Amino acid sequence: MANTAELILEGKSYQLPLIVGSCEEKAIDIRKLRADTGYIAFDSGYGNTGSCMSNITFIDGEKGILCYRGIPVAELAEKSTFVETSYLLIYGHLPNKTELDNFSHQLRYHSMIHEDMLRFYDGYPSTAHPMAILSSMVCSLSAYYPDSLDPKDPAQVDHLVPRVLSKIRTIAAYSYKKSIGQPVVYPQNALSYCANFLHMMFAVPSETMEIDPDVTAALNMLLIIHADHEQNCSTSTVRLVGSSDANLFASVAAGICALWGPKHGGANQAVMEMLETIHKNGGDVNKAVAAAKDKDSDFKLMGFGHRVYKSYDPRATIIRKNCDVILGKLGKKDPLLEIAKRLEEVALKDPYFRERNLYPNVDFYSGVLYRALGIPKNMYTVMFSLGRLPGWIAHWREMHLEGDDRIYRPRQIYNGPTTANYVPIEGRK
Ligand code: SDX
Repeated sequence: MANTAELILEGKSYQLPLIVGSCEEKAIDIRKLRADTGYIAFDSGYGNTGSCMSNITFIDGEKGILCYRGIPVAELAEKSTFVETSYLLIYGHLPNKTELDNFSHQLRYHSMIHEDMLRFYDGYPSTAHPMAILSSMVCSLSAYYPDSLDPKDPAQVDHLVPRVLSKIRTIAAYSYKKSIGQPVVYPQNALSYCANFLHMMFAVPSETMEIDPDVTAALNMLLIIHADHEQNCSTSTVRLVGSSDANLFASVAAGICALWGPKHGGANQAVMEMLETIHKNGGDVNKAVAAAKDKDSDFKLMGFGHRVYKSYDPRATIIRKNCDVILGKLGKKDPLLEIAKRLEEVALKDPYFRERNLYPNVDFYSGVLYRALGIPKNMYTVMFSLGRLPGWIAHWREMHLEGDDRIYRPRQIYNGPTTANYVPIEGRK
């Protein structure tokens, strides 16, 4: 195969280098395009733009394949723990026993946040969305580590990694406690990562709490499933903010904000709201499907469609299967799960969805499972953030310590007025 592509522009020929990834993904290298030709590549929404080389996660959207460092996500969801998978994503290999013990120890012993930060929670209204609290609290963490913020110093980065992973879990659980007016429950370092989170979420000081191992296992699986997804909107945001050499906390806080939107991680909450509305209105899924197809309506079938997957999102397959298993184990029935399944069935038979390759994505069934675990709806996107954290860290770290850390700076095609003069206010219409 040739290792260049020929571009003929205004009668002149240019050779553009080709890049092929380890899983045969192909790209045309246009980095010198403007310098050589005066043209830029135009790609709003970056649907055709490779923004970096990365060794972390591979997706084949046509075949529905997702691997972290080469390992299929289904295998990790079944056999691994979230802590181990986090290590894999961040450091590039499955940890040996000493590495895992050391990493787990660090996560356990950096679980508390500075006591002063507890007072920050008092400044938020009780109606505050936990994502608003999470993003600002995470950015605030940077104030407590002024000596560890250099993204180019591997020792400083390694100092921060377990702290970020451990403390954001605590911040997330405290956000929930504050929103329901209960005292915060301090972390218990003897517990596993997921059990500790559940304890901080659901324990109260006045009672002892048994943590159901099935609930812990389900949470572990959900966090693994969410742990990375290459250059999605929030991870690209973390890389973009990080490319200015902003510190890890600031970059992750920006990622949390990007994730919040309903087109991205906020879709899990939006799916549940959609399912609840259908349920309240009698359970007719056909109306929702019809509204999603109506070009005069803004309504979209939440939890459906994906920029990369043109087949079933492999994560949705795993979560759907687990909904049946976990609800069965917990002895719960959820009418919203039945509505979701009916909605999927009707949509997947409909030519509109088939022609556009619109399938359930990761957010379609995750809310049903979170609900079964007792997690409230406004915490779903917080849960997605907790899961995605190792991915954000891995990409930020890769960019700074292993990859290309050139500042992200897309160009544009300007289409506004060419010349205009300043008009004093009295002369304006
Ligand atoms: C996540 O990128 C990632 O990897 C993200 C993620 C991760 O792990 O990080 O996987 C997590 O964000 C999952 C996506 C969650 N969002 C939703 O579920 C919201 C509903 N879905 C969408 O709005 C939409 O499908 C997106 C945002 C997910 C993808 O948008 P694209 O790639 O820009 O696709 P598009 O909007 O251009 O859609 C193409 C066509 C359009 O129709 P036409 O104009 O060609 O006639 O499909 C239609 C769209 O109107 N379409 C839908 C639809 N999704 C796309 N029509 C109805 N319902 C939908 N859900």
